[in-house]
Amino acid sequence: MKLNTNYLGLDLKSPIVPSASPLSESIDSIRTMEDYGAGAVVLYSLFEEQIEAESHELNHYLTSGTDSFAESLDFFPDMESYITGPDAYLELIKRATETVYIPVIASLNGVTPGGWTSHATLMEQAGAAAIELNLYAIQGNLEVSASEIEAR
Ligand SMILES: Cc1cc2nc3c(=O)[nH]c(=O)nc-3n(C[C@H](O)[C@H](O)[C@H](O)COP(=O)(O)O)c2cc1C
Repeated sequence: MKLNTNYLGLDLKSPIVPSASPLSESIDSIRTMEDYGAGAVVLYSLFEEQIEAESHELNHYLTSGTDSFAESLDFFPDMESYITGPDAYLELIKRATETVYIPVIASLNGVTPGGWTSHATLMEQAGAAAIELNLYAIQGNLEVSASEIEAR
């Protein structure tokens, strides 16, 4: 039976696309999904706030104690010397696209307006065939309309 279809401009051999979940955390598991007929796979989500939090947390531990001892103004090199951010995720995209024939779709959870765009660019460069963007914002103001929220 022919199950091939077109989705997001991508030619898929089947319309079955496992959605974002820990199933895509390993290359072996992504390959298994392909072997069992997945037409594409959506990777688990990279969370913008997670990247920010990790970066802030690392900065906190690296700078605590700074200026506390006259002979050593700080104990670690600047944040710029450290790699923080979505590197492991980008590596997964790269390795997955090298390993399987089906399109690999990245998933990004954005929080701040525009804050996700740099990560989206990196995902594209790493080989993502498409990007699923989840926008996350808890709306507590009853005066704000749904269309205003969507436009934002
Ligand atoms: C364990 C687990 C982890 C998930 N992780 C993500 C995720 O990282 N990003 C995301 O957008 N959705 C995530 N989802 C949601 C799924 O991608 C999917 O949208 C949801 O399970 C609904 O589909 P279903 O009715 O076929 O289960 C997760 C779901 C489960 C059960």
